[in-house]
Amino acid sequence: FEQQPLRVQINGVAKQLSVEPRVTLLDLLREQLHLTGTKKGCDHGQCGACTVHLDGQRINSCLTLALMTEGAKVTTIEGLASGDKLHPMQEAFIKHDGFQCGYCTPGQIMSAVACIGEGHADTPEQVREYMSGNICRCGAYANIVEAVMEVKN
Ligand code: FES
Repeated sequence: FEQQPLRVQINGVAKQLSVEPRVTLLDLLREQLHLTGTKKGCDHGQCGACTVHLDGQRINSCLTLALMTEGAKVTTIEGLASGDKLHPMQEAFIKHDGFQCGYCTPGQIMSAVACIGEGHADTPEQVREYMSGNICRCGAYANIVEAVMEVKN
């Protein structure tokens, strides 16, 4: 496939890239840009491990073609901290043990930040509903909800 130009801002840095039309945003991030914080679980939109923000909205990067991000702003887990200061949601996940193996954690945290940002964190039930697309095989759900509620309040 012929490569096509892509201009996109990734974690605040403007990029001019060449991308094949069939490449997903997830594969662009991991394989071309070596931003491996974003994880590939199912590659089918079912696990949430690949969650990133596109212009502030959460998306599954495995279901998004890279070329669809032309002119947009993408934020990944690598872009959440400010220098060596972690994002409050990252701090809360550590404090509340919101993970065990950690594989789903980048996606969980990107969803959790969007959960509050999009106004779906008024109650633990709302958080559970909004976060239901982020699967944790270790079952850390209760602690994840606690972390989100702490950052919200
Ligand atoms: Fe995208 Fe599972 S890797 S939802």
